[in-house]
Formats: sequence, C-alpha cells, structure tokens
Amino acid sequence: MPKVRGRTIRVLFDAETIAARNLEMAAEIAAAGYRDLLVVSILKGSFVFAADLLRALHDVGLSPEVEFIQLSSYAAGKVSSGKVKLVRDVESDVAGRDVLLIDDILESGRTIAFARDLMEKRGARKVAIAVLLEKPGKLAQPLATDHVGFVCPDLFVVGYGMDAAHAFRGLPFVGVVVERRPRIARAAARGSRARRRDGRSRRGAGGSRRESRARAGYRSRREP
Ligand code: IMP
Ligand code: MG
Repeated sequence: MPKVRGRTIRVLFDAETIAARNLEMAAEIAAAGYRDLLVVSILKGSFVFAADLLRALHDVGLSPEVEFIQLSSYAAGKVSSGKVKLVRDVESDVAGRDVLLIDDILESGRTIAFARDLMEKRGARKVAIAVLLEKPGKLAQPLATDHVGFVCPDLFVVGYGMDAAHAFRGLPFVGVVVERRPRIARAAARGSRARRRDGRSRRGAGGSRRESRARAGYRSRREP
C-alpha cells in the first residue's frame, strides 16, 4: 500500500481504472447530444477529475467551454456542515445553454443540488450532472445524476482531487487513509514483536514495570 505524508493509503480506484472509466464517460457524454455545452467544474474537489474528463472529451471529439464554480460545505473537516456556500461564481451567462456540472463525489447531494438550482434559476436549457464517485444511500433528497464513474463505499476517500483537510489532493488514485493505531496499541505490538524475537518476556528479561511502561511511551509525571 502506498505511503504518503507518512500515512498508509489503501487504494480503492487506481489510475488505470479511473482513466479507462473517464474514456467511457466521455463517450457517454458525447452520445447524450448536449447542445452549446458549458462544462462547469465544481471546485475544489473536482479539479483533477474535470481536467482528465475534459481531455477524454477531446479524444471523443468534444470541445466544450469550461467554467468553474467554487462551493463549500465541509469547512476543513470530514463532516458536511449541511449548508452550501457559494465561494466563487461562474462568469458565463448560462441562459439557454446546456450545462454539465462536474463534481468529484456525490454524498448528500446538497452541493450538486445547489449548483443545479442556481443554473436552472439562471435559465440554463438543461443541467446535467457528472460525478466520478457516488456513495449510495446518502442523498438528503432525490437527485438524478446523468454520468457516474463508480459507486463508492461509504468511507471518507482522498486523492484524485479529494482531500482530508487539504491534503492528498494530488494522488493519482482514490483511496482511504488507513487509521493509525493508537500509541499504546503500537507500543504493545512493538513489545510483543520483541518478545517473539527474544523467545521470552521482556519483563522476564529483567525489565521492571516502570521500564516497560517507559518503553510503551508513558512518561513519569516527574520527567519533563
Ligand atoms: P455532498 O454535498 O454531501 O454531496 O458532498 C459533496 C462534496 O463533499 C464533494 O464535492 C466533496 O468535495 C465532499 N466530499 C464528500 N464525501 C467526501 C469524501 O469521502 N472525501 C472527500 N470529500 C468528500
Ligand atoms: Mg467538492
């Protein structure tokens, strides 16, 4: 498993799998026959997916205009605040146009519903939705998607544009950060490995309870 920023990442969707699916999605989008298409990438999380999907669209003969909108609902944590905020708007007039919203991952659907409603209010002829990942069963309200890359397990994923507190966006794959074992469990595992190596108990090898606590990372109150 790859190690990034000192953390182990379990890969869920690797780069080759994503690239192949992007091409399929591009073909689907081309076949949908959108007219006067404006692609709107929802920042920040979709920037990698949007960049790759746009180049896949080029490969299937589509050259849409591209815009960006920045929405926020997650602050810097892993739990959605439930309220979507418009951080940066598109510059284009969308009235009468077909708009394809691109996002990284669909969870409650609030982010995309906000963007869709905004585009519809401004008179877009049609608003379609493309997401790389969809976590099933999490929608706050019904929402119809048009192009979905993969169904994603109900885990907090990172990479390929998606972040945990702004880290891991540059990974070329989508994965999950493996939880660190608590310090005490790590120390216990170290101790049992050492015991296995010695073929005897560390305490039996002469260590006092105080010494073994110190090895396990405890500090005496008197120590600095
Ligand atoms: P929704 O509004 O609940 O559908 O959340 C969608 C937005 O939350 C996405 O655009 C992502 O930026 C972010 N998000 C949701 N789930 C994850 C995740 O597992 N990892 C990283 N970002 C996520
Ligand atoms: Mg996002």
